[in-house]
Amino acid sequence: MNEVQTRIKNFVRLSGGCVQRRGAADVFFDLTAKKEKHMRNGTTKLLLTAMAAAGAICLMLVNAGAAHAAPELTSISDAPPAIVIFPVGEKPNPEGLGMKPVVFSHLVHENRVENCESCHHTGDTVACTSCHTVQGNAGGNFITLEKAMHTENIAKRAKGNTPQSCVSCHAQQIRKRECAGCHSIVQPSRGDAYCASCHNAPGLTKADMVAGSAGKLPEERTAKLASDALKARENPVQLQPTDGPYKVMIGEIADKYMPSMFAHRRHVASLMERVKDNALASAFHNQPATLCAACHHNSPLKGAPPKCGSCHQQRIDPANPERPQLKAAYHLQCMGCHQGMKVARPLNTSCVTCHRKNETKTVSAAAK
Ligand code: HEC
Ligand code: HEC
Ligand code: HEC
Ligand code: HEC
Ligand code: HEC
Ligand code: HEC
Ligand code: HEC
Ligand code: HEC
Ligand code: HEC
Repeated sequence: MNEVQTRIKNFVRLSGGCVQRRGAADVFFDLTAKKEKHMRNGTTKLLLTAMAAAGAICLMLVNAGAAHAAPELTSISDAPPAIVIFPVGEKPNPEGLGMKPVVFSHLVHENRVENCESCHHTGDTVACTSCHTVQGNAGGNFITLEKAMHTENIAKRAKGNTPQSCVSCHAQQIRKRECAGCHSIVQPSRGDAYCASCHNAPGLTKADMVAGSAGKLPEERTAKLASDALKARENPVQLQPTDGPYKVMIGEIADKYMPSMFAHRRHVASLMERVKDNALASAFHNQPATLCAACHHNSPLKGAPPKCGSCHQQRIDPANPERPQLKAAYHLQCMGCHQGMKVARPLNTSCVTCHRKNETKTVSAAAK
């Protein structure tokens, strides 16, 4: 949360003119204050708007879907706390087929992203779908809805705001220190579970889809779909540190060095602790063993993973020349994460922090 947002929040709290509610069902609106629609200078104007109107405004305070994030989130935008984004097109699909719509928590994003313009790149806080449609139209420079939402590596614009897609911004989020360790060793599979982290609306019917894509779904129905989706996203079932071993002795190839004692539970607990309050991480780590799979990769997601040595042989396998041999597999994984996370100890060069020298070997080698 940036300084301005903190100030808004404190100001509002002090002003006392605010009703606080919790729970998805308690969506509380009071739009007595007219808010600036065209905010080119987002946060400053927001502060002014908040100051000017604080006596009259009752912020909507919803924790819909955000229970695992900050305890209270406030909004002063005109946007609903959660929006069902349908695939709007010039030629709506009469069968209502295609991807499920996306439930977008505007509330979480407003609170976590500094500027409205990071997303509303034209400066107008209107629906993206007014310019970016399934087929693309002139208003959106024929950039389709699919592109506007998923394009990665968007080049910085020389003039004006650089647009961001959902996926391009999330790719930046995972470069944060607490995420970067795993994410520098994880090769994203981007399978069905990944798409469904965004494209999912439990209880959606074909009729909802047709009406929604045509912009004709009644408001109460939209709100119900949104709150159900956010609830389903909360606190996904996760395997816990205690589902794995306390320590593992890794000694498959011990030769020059003693076997390495790997503090398994401590590692898993420490990694989980770092991501537990991040709503983005919770939404995407939605399979019970997602976090285990950061290290136990390319295997079915279950609690009893195969040993690294089942797939990584002591010598490069000619049938899989890309696959590191066993020693390299361990080193690349351990050190890849430590480096990505800027872990202070052990340094990659500090060999004996991970494995003591095998004195017998050294002595017998020296005696030869
Ligand atoms: C970070 C969130 C997010 C993820 C992850 C995501 N999408 Fe989307 N996608 C959206 C949004 C938002 C839209 C616009 C609303 C809509 O059309 O449902 C969209 C639209 C689309 C569209 C155009 C609309 C249509 O139905 O033709 C396609 C196709 C699509 N997504 C495919 C995918 C596929 C395939 C995956 C997984 C590989 C995926 N998306 C993952 C957010 C996401
Ligand atoms: C992380 C991206 C993001 C940020 C930050 C963001 N918005 Fe939005 N906003 C969206 C998306 C996505 C929609 C839904 C677009 C759609 O339905 O096509 C939306 C919708 C809206 C709408 C409803 C538009 C309509 O006509 O349906 C308003 C109003 C709005 N935003 C205002 C704001 C304001 C004010 C801020 C800053 C306080 C802000 N937004 C910050 C992404 C964002
Ligand atoms: C008023 C029309 C309009 C609205 C509303 C709008 N866009 Fe755009 N968008 C454009 C135009 C025009 C371009 C092409 C200009 C550019 O790339 O700088 C563009 C480009 C983009 C790009 C760059 C795609 C690429 O491959 O380079 C992304 C991403 C994008 N928009 C996302 C969004 C999102 C997300 C929203 C809603 C929060 C949104 N846009 C709202 C008109 C709009
Ligand atoms: C400018 C950056 C940015 C953009 C653009 C963005 N996100 Fe996010 N997203 C975030 C951040 C930051 C979080 C919250 C992380 C946290 O809890 O600190 C988040 C959280 C989420 C979550 C989990 C919270 C929830 O809703 O339950 C989902 C799902 C999500 N985003 C989907 C989307 C979709 C869909 C879009 C595009 C319409 C989008 N995001 C665009 C930055 C972004
Ligand atoms: C313990 C390891 C671990 C940590 C720490 C971690 N992740 Fe992940 N994350 C994963 C794994 C594994 C996947 C699944 C990759 C796949 O199979 O596609 C994943 C997938 C994701 C995805 C969807 C895939 C993608 O590349 O876009 C997002 C978004 C994400 N994580 C966000 C975060 C955020 C934000 C943090 C930090 C707050 C974080 N993760 C920290 C292991 C981790
Ligand atoms: C982050 C922890 C870590 C660090 C730091 C580390 N290693 Fe290792 N290394 C391992 C693990 C785990 C194994 C696999 C242990 C086994 O099966 O015996 C291993 C195995 C080895 C092996 C093969 C087994 C053997 O005993 O011959 C050699 C050689 C080795 N490391 C050399 C080094 C050297 C040299 C350094 C310092 C430049 C180093 N390692 C730093 C974790 C580490
Ligand atoms: C930071 C990386 C990492 C994470 C995260 C991780 N593991 Fe492990 N795990 C390992 C390594 C390394 C081994 C040793 C494998 C080998 O040498 O073949 C191991 C071994 C195991 C073993 C075999 C123990 C034995 O004594 O043979 C089990 C069971 C296991 N892990 C379960 C889990 C579960 C369940 C999770 C998720 C809660 C998990 N692991 C998360 C790295 C990890
Ligand atoms: C079920 C088989 C399997 C198991 C078990 C397995 N790996 Fe892998 N590993 C692979 C495959 C497949 C690749 C991708 C390279 C390739 O194309 O062969 C890979 C690649 C790697 C890479 C290179 C970077 C990357 O992700 O592509 C590292 C490092 C690695 N594995 C470490 C480990 C460690 C450490 C363990 C045990 C905790 C382990 N692997 C367990 C199959 C496996
Ligand atoms: C996915 C990330 C990740 C992977 C993979 C990983 N570590 Fe770590 N490791 C950490 C973090 C984070 C710490 C910092 C200490 C903490 O928070 O508990 C750490 C700390 C350590 C420490 C120092 C603990 C202490 O006593 O101060 C050792 C030793 C260590 N790791 C060994 C290993 C070995 C051996 C492997 C590979 C088999 C490995 N790590 C793989 C994240 C990782």
